Amino acid sequence: MTRIPHLLGLEELSSAQIRGLLSVARRFADSPSLDRAPDLLQGKTVGLVFFEDSTRTKTSFETATTALGGRPMDFSAATSSLKKGETTYDTLITLKNAGADGFVVRHPSSGGPAYLAAKLGFPVVNAGDGHHEHPTQGLLDALTLEEALGSLKGRRVLIVGDIIHSRVARSNAHCLTKLGADVVLCGPPTLLPPEGALPGRVTPRLDEELASADAVMMLRIQFERQSFFPVPSSGEFTRFWGLTAERAALLKPEAFVMHPGPMNRGLEIDSLVADSPRSLIARQVAMGVPTRMACLAAVLAPDRLEQWAKKEGVVP
Ligand code: CP
Repeated sequence: MTRIPHLLGLEELSSAQIRGLLSVARRFADSPSLDRAPDLLQGKTVGLVFFEDSTRTKTSFETATTALGGRPMDFSAATSSLKKGETTYDTLITLKNAGADGFVVRHPSSGGPAYLAAKLGFPVVNAGDGHHEHPTQGLLDALTLEEALGSLKGRRVLIVGDIIHSRVARSNAHCLTKLGADVVLCGPPTLLPPEGALPGRVTPRLDEELASADAVMMLRIQFERQSFFPVPSSGEFTRFWGLTAERAALLKPEAFVMHPGPMNRGLEIDSLVADSPRSLIARQVAMGVPTRMACLAAVLAPDRLEQWAKKEGVVP
């Protein structure tokens, strides 16, 4: 696997690099216990620097760091000296001087982690930046889908909802397309990118797309990134773009349903669908830890990862 000094987005990774990360993640996912994971981060401290709220991403990066023998350094923006006027740059320099060897950064600005990676010159993994990318989410979604469907070549993945503000949609569109999937982006016209802005076909007509989908990925409306409700009412959003039980019945029996979380039950997805046997939502969360283990090892300990992969016969 070619070296990845930072993981900032999946747009800039080659399909070979994506496949390499997925091979490592799959090996970790197949391991019967995290206790058996190799100590690839031994002696390393990973700063978990979240300037936006998180449940899944932050806890799984913390578990991934510990599983690989590293030390997570927790940081809470809400209770930090940012409140006293310290800059983001000075905050990370401070954490570096306190012992961090690299950073996992979530930031509301698209490009925030890239700015920090360029300015600070030490390893950065993007844990979600504005509406730009959420690369580890894209990778864990691909890992989950490959487990469910096998090869993604020619498989149709329908991504539905607030596409234009979604970093998850962007990372998935790049990642799934590079893995050979046929991506369709669907939502209200006010929440769709122009055709060609992202890999994938763009359409506002959900009902016409359901029968041919192998998987449907529902997205929440990113209320924090817009000042108006993008359709006249939440009821109208659900009526035309929500995955209700009636609409899910239009899917092939073997098609899967996904959601990166957090879900707004009853708005973009019904509980009857989210909790149904075709739902991969719990599996997506579980795949977060092995995926983030692979990403942390690739960025913070590439030599150790290469040696381990050779010894274990993991072919990235
Ligand atoms: N999917 C996702 O990024 O969830 P969190 O915001 O809880 O981390």
